[in-house]
Amino acid sequence: GTPHILALCGSVRAGGFNKKLLDLAVAEARAQGAEVDVVDPQVLAQLPIYDQDVEVKGWPPLVKELRERLARANGLLIASPEYNSSIPGGLKNALDWVSRGPERLFPEKWAALMGASPGFFGTARMQPHLRQVLSSTGAHVLPSQVHLPRAAEAFNTDGSFKDEARRKEVAALVSSLVSKLKG
Ligand code: FNR
Repeated sequence: GTPHILALCGSVRAGGFNKKLLDLAVAEARAQGAEVDVVDPQVLAQLPIYDQDVEVKGWPPLVKELRERLARANGLLIASPEYNSSIPGGLKNALDWVSRGPERLFPEKWAALMGASPGFFGTARMQPHLRQVLSSTGAHVLPSQVHLPRAAEAFNTDGSFKDEARRKEVAALVSSLVSKLKG
């Protein structure tokens, strides 16, 4: 089928390293023929905290909208920071909301994970946690992943990577995702 990817950033701030990384991956995915729906990072900040009493009454409008966008996608592309060695709360909250309900939105979807940090580990401690959370929703998480350490030195002023090897690494991850979705 047509690759239709939902792109999520785990950092809600404008111009963060993970948004830059996500933007480059999104451009690559579009160049490879995928349709990509990029969620504004601020959506994660505006979602209420998951509450089962609220869920029973009906999805809040922002949750409903995010669920509909996820339902239209067959792939997920995520770039997230590492907070205290794990997943940022806002991203975990969003995944908790969209994982609920009888529709089961994640099974049969493929996910590609990336993360950027100013330190040396490039979100290496967060990614196994995110992998576990997504796997428990029924999503298939690609074995390959992208770590971007020393993110403060990684980008040119136009947003491109300084290091061509990084561009190739991201292109390879995106290509694995797109080929799963075409298959
Ligand atoms: C961080 N940061 C961080 N970095 C890291 O490599 N490992 C970690 O465990 C943490 N922990 C952490 C906790 C909290 C609450 C914050 C706010 C930050 C630093 C983090 O990598 C840095 O702020 C990045 O710049 C965040 O990503 P964006 O917003 O630039 O995409």
